[in-house]
Amino acid sequence: MSARPRFLAIDQGTTSTRAILVEDSGARLLGSFVHRQHHPAPGHVEHDPEELLAHVAACLDLGRAAGAQAAGLANQGESCLAWDATTGRALGPVIVWQDDRTAATCARLAADGAEALTLARAGLPLDAYFSASKLAWCLAHLPGARALAAAGRLRLGTTDAFFRHRLTGRCATDPTTASRTSLMDLDRLDWDADLCALFGVPRACLPPIAPTTGDLGTARGLALTASVVDQQAALYGHGARAPGQAKVTFGTGAFALCPTAARAAAGQGPLPTVAWALAGAAPGYALEGGVYAAGAAVNWARGLGLFSDWDQIAAFDGPPAIARGVVFVPALAGLACPHWRRDARGGFLGLDLGCGPRDMARAVLEGIAFRTAEVIESIAALQPLDGAVRIDGGLSGNPAFVRFLADTLARPVIVSHEAELTAVGCAALAAHGAGAALALAPGGQMVAPAPQPAHWRARFADARASIAAYGAPAD
Ligand code: G3P
Repeated sequence: MSARPRFLAIDQGTTSTRAILVEDSGARLLGSFVHRQHHPAPGHVEHDPEELLAHVAACLDLGRAAGAQAAGLANQGESCLAWDATTGRALGPVIVWQDDRTAATCARLAADGAEALTLARAGLPLDAYFSASKLAWCLAHLPGARALAAAGRLRLGTTDAFFRHRLTGRCATDPTTASRTSLMDLDRLDWDADLCALFGVPRACLPPIAPTTGDLGTARGLALTASVVDQQAALYGHGARAPGQAKVTFGTGAFALCPTAARAAAGQGPLPTVAWALAGAAPGYALEGGVYAAGAAVNWARGLGLFSDWDQIAAFDGPPAIARGVVFVPALAGLACPHWRRDARGGFLGLDLGCGPRDMARAVLEGIAFRTAEVIESIAALQPLDGAVRIDGGLSGNPAFVRFLADTLARPVIVSHEAELTAVGCAALAAHGAGAALALAPGGQMVAPAPQPAHWRARFADARASIAAYGAPAD
């Protein structure tokens, strides 16, 4: 074991899997593996389980070679799959959190009045985002799933449980990940029989729920001492442990989390969730809200040819795009918190003949900021914030976006100096699980809002309402 604390964080995200070595002196990227995105039908988003597993294994090998004393796994939240407990082989693809193939199922359950139960027990509304309806889909549609269930060999779970099963030989998940399934009782931190029955997910197929940190087994020769949702890892990495210390991570989506003193009641806005459940300690709770398409919307705009180089959208002259009436609502994968409209679709409004690609690219950034502000304000309505909002991830490196976000929030924004905050939090949890500590405390740069509050929020809200009303084609 090396003398200095040195932990590996595996950031298994929506678009890539990355190995990051974290020491007191900082975080260092060891390797990054991009996986394929499969879209077999409109609204379907899948990953190959074996491809993800190979990338996680490659990260472990890099960490072991670099002298890491233990590893932590940060996984994409709600993405899930079915596998054979005996062989470990997946029965089908990973169904990714963005996938909405079960939207009609969730709508039907909601029409039957089932949302009161999911809100009360899991703290979550009925939405295809969460794992439960996806796991039920796996059982109903994947060849051989019912026979394996009857034989007591079917496993249904989030990706972390699959990786842990295959790499450590122990099949388990943690309360942060389980809190994103809509099958866990948020107070007891255990699977709920009524929720399992509602969705048609046999409890016997689910992995045990164990604390976020501790001895989680050995994976490719390295001790695994933490397993956590990537968003919660980023919250921990920000050092945001006290109620009101909100963070937003800008990745594929933009996900806000804010610790609360106790488990908040579920409503139609932000959602109560488990922030962490450290071995031997009471769980920490948080409020969560997301914008499903953030980095994904910017990449989409680039793919359309609205810009080609990131520097082109790092600075703009003159008033914002919305000042000339151009608005983009980034509902490319539906509208999440606080609207919960899976059927909403993205769109530009207010285009005129003089409007060019640069205006449209700028409107995309602004739309992400407006949606982020909607999420943050919905959290702040339930849990007063401590002032600034901490941000990290890709878009936090875009000065034009950060300034517009601060103005739109009418709150200071603290941009983390450390680009790898998910990894820092994951490694800090891994250190905790190994009975060690990392002294790393990344600071940030404060960006103050304009003295005059921006007055475009209401205009954006009008555009967002129009987009939501337009919706997606009915089946
Ligand atoms: O809820 C989904 C979230 O965990 C995915 O995060 O970083 O892969 O976009 P990311």
